[in-house]
Amino acid sequence: MEGEVYYPSQDSIAKSYVQDWEALAESARKDLQGFWAERADELFWFKKWDKVLDDSQKPFFKWFTGAKVNIAYNCVDVHLQTYRKNKLALIWESEDGKSDRTFSYYSLNREVCRMANIIKAMGVEKGDRVTIYMGRIPEIMFAMLACAKIGAIHSVVFGGFSVDALHERISDSESKLIITCDGSLQNGKLVELKRIVDESLRHCPTVENVIVVKRTGHEVPMEAGRDHWFHDLCALPIANGKCTTEVMDAEDPLFILYTSGSTGKPKAILHTHGGYMVGTYTTLKYVFDINDEDRFWCTADPGWITGHSYLVYGPLLTGATIFMFEGGPAFPYPNRWWQLIERFGVSVFYTAPTAIRALMRFGEAWPNKHDLSSLRLLGSVGEPINPEAWKWFHRVIGKERCPIMDTWWQTETGMFMITPTPVVPLKPGSGTRPFFGQEAEILDEQGNPVADDHEGYLVLKNPWPAMMRTLYKDPDRYVETYWKKYPGKYMTGDSARRDKDGYFWIIGRVDDVIKVSGHRLGTAEIESALITHPAVAESAAIGLPHEVKGQAIYCFVHLKPGFAPTEDLSEELRQHVARHLGPIARPEEVNFIDKLPKTRSGKIMRRVLKARAQGLPEGDLSTLEE
Ligand code: PRX
Repeated sequence: MEGEVYYPSQDSIAKSYVQDWEALAESARKDLQGFWAERADELFWFKKWDKVLDDSQKPFFKWFTGAKVNIAYNCVDVHLQTYRKNKLALIWESEDGKSDRTFSYYSLNREVCRMANIIKAMGVEKGDRVTIYMGRIPEIMFAMLACAKIGAIHSVVFGGFSVDALHERISDSESKLIITCDGSLQNGKLVELKRIVDESLRHCPTVENVIVVKRTGHEVPMEAGRDHWFHDLCALPIANGKCTTEVMDAEDPLFILYTSGSTGKPKAILHTHGGYMVGTYTTLKYVFDINDEDRFWCTADPGWITGHSYLVYGPLLTGATIFMFEGGPAFPYPNRWWQLIERFGVSVFYTAPTAIRALMRFGEAWPNKHDLSSLRLLGSVGEPINPEAWKWFHRVIGKERCPIMDTWWQTETGMFMITPTPVVPLKPGSGTRPFFGQEAEILDEQGNPVADDHEGYLVLKNPWPAMMRTLYKDPDRYVETYWKKYPGKYMTGDSARRDKDGYFWIIGRVDDVIKVSGHRLGTAEIESALITHPAVAESAAIGLPHEVKGQAIYCFVHLKPGFAPTEDLSEELRQHVARHLGPIARPEEVNFIDKLPKTRSGKIMRRVLKARAQGLPEGDLSTLEE
């Protein structure tokens, strides 16, 4: 093999579910449906499927049609009938370290049922949407599972988003109910989630009720008739710990999750009960070799797809013990995560390159202070991992014992698509090859495959069970965005190259999406926030390379007459974006510009701004307006 290669140890191979990667890949290549049917057979179905894959209306693929199932039943109820009943399902630690809470599968079931009964009592029925906007606390998991259990569609909005982003997601989903908490903690600071909800709800006529979980205990306004404290509801007779699971069609929606694309309006990615369940279960099991002794820690927030698939659903489907931490990596000290791995005996640790890069900067002494010998496997997701960070993670955290699973996937794919398993030789910075049953290609503008080691558009060739089914309320945009450029192939929006060993190397997004610390944001959303400021006539946002964040947001603003380009105004505009869209979207810099480079048809040429900002050649300027 070419380049720097890390071969798996005999121990990794011996413990792996998939000892012969090539053989399983070959069997999935020959019989895609057979491969997935066999995996699906490991889960519980009220009624089995008539057909594994229905591609008669592609690109609206359907999986396990005719089957009856509920993902929540597979996450919780099935384990109650086994020795797992008293096994820990969830260990949670608060940011300040003053409290930890643990839930066995038995008590998880009681919590989920209680929440489900409360949601039902609020008039929520099968197919209704429920927006969940909370910090990283156990109740967010209970709320998601409770919705799934009764057949409601959850729409989780990341707690780091603010008023405008939340408002748009609530009103687009036409949610009946909001589940939130009074506040959350971020590096010791209070984020007033309930107040953000109140502001967001000003023009959301569909919302009938708001359930508020008490987390921080600070004073919050409660609107009579609409807002209810969760603990008060729990005291009522309706809130008992038993609730029947709704029998769903495999293709019934499980959740929508808004993600950023090329326009200002976020896309509501829709996932279903059956296929999503089979996809997340199988990938987590094979890629992280999850077994009963594992304590699995995924540092993602439930507000992103990684949190949905691999903090909540995947690990529960495999019957693992989940570790969930409310806080971030370096508060109060840069050893917080390492201390938690030691204290709770975490065996599989899945995080993002941006966090690794940030923690690297504090030096090795912090992790070296801790016994990390419980770790067996590491994982990375969200953005390309630079080889330097990969090697540090491997050497300093994994002690050269733990392979790193660099998993490439998207909100849209629902599950890992390009990823190693523990028996695959690794190259730092590459997600290796597509998962079983998948084939990827690198194409040029015209749709021809490019030569090895050349950059092009990354596409996926085969359907997979956890694929999004559509964009909620916008099927045309689904076809247009993902299936139009190369008919019959799924357009990922990423550029990549493949090396001579067939390994894929992701380069980055080719559209107007920026990955800031692994968080997905759209340039258009940032521009929409800027334009609501009275001084802004026009603006453009771009992503530029950043040492820790991967990419950072830079904005160019053309001011309205009468406004002077001052430092203070620049700072005010940065704050403005943070207040409207969320602190994660705060621009690194806001610069003032007399004229934005545009095409003759009036489209902003972000590519030109990007090149200029980096001192690179500006490329073809023939379409630039005079
Ligand atoms: O550009 C790719 C990058 O994240 C994008 C998807 O973002 P999102 O939908 O928020 O999902 C993130 C978590 C699954 C992709 O189009 N990306 C994700 N994982 C990787 C990655 N880039 C390189 N390597 C990865 N492992």
